[in-house]
Amino acid sequence: MSEEIDILDGEKKIGRATFVKTAMGGFAIMWGGLTLYPVFRYLCPDAKDEEDASSKIASLDIGKVTDFSPGSGKNFKFGSTPALIIRSQDGEFHAFKAVCTHLGCTVQYRKEKNSIWCACHGGAYDPNTGKNVAGPPPKPLLALKVEVVKERVIVSNA
Ligand code: FES
Repeated sequence: MSEEIDILDGEKKIGRATFVKTAMGGFAIMWGGLTLYPVFRYLCPDAKDEEDASSKIASLDIGKVTDFSPGSGKNFKFGSTPALIIRSQDGEFHAFKAVCTHLGCTVQYRKEKNSIWCACHGGAYDPNTGKNVAGPPPKPLLALKVEVVKERVIVSNA
């Protein structure tokens, strides 16, 4: 038997086998939790965590002004969030979080159509404002702030 009772003291003592079984059970539960938690977080990411990661970035230097030709767009990472910068034909910069407002796919700039496009379900956004203009996206892209400082392009939260 795994439990021992000390008759003289009337105290309940735990036998070695019970202690080992309990310790092994506890270890197995702890190991299972440590193993399964990352899998759970991968399968069910918390949108707030992603938002927090990108909101912790004060600003991001994404290159020289000359790295971006007029009429071009480039995807980049703003923290852990996909982002997109577009330089319009008149030289203005516009940046957005490149997360489609329909189901969260990453959007890209399509130069030939001068549009921000989502390949998942054909959603489209205005490249200057981020406004949803076609397809299923229900609302505009989240805008980022763009500044040019000493010929460097700096992106920050709007
Ligand atoms: S996820 Fe972008 S259009 Fe559906």
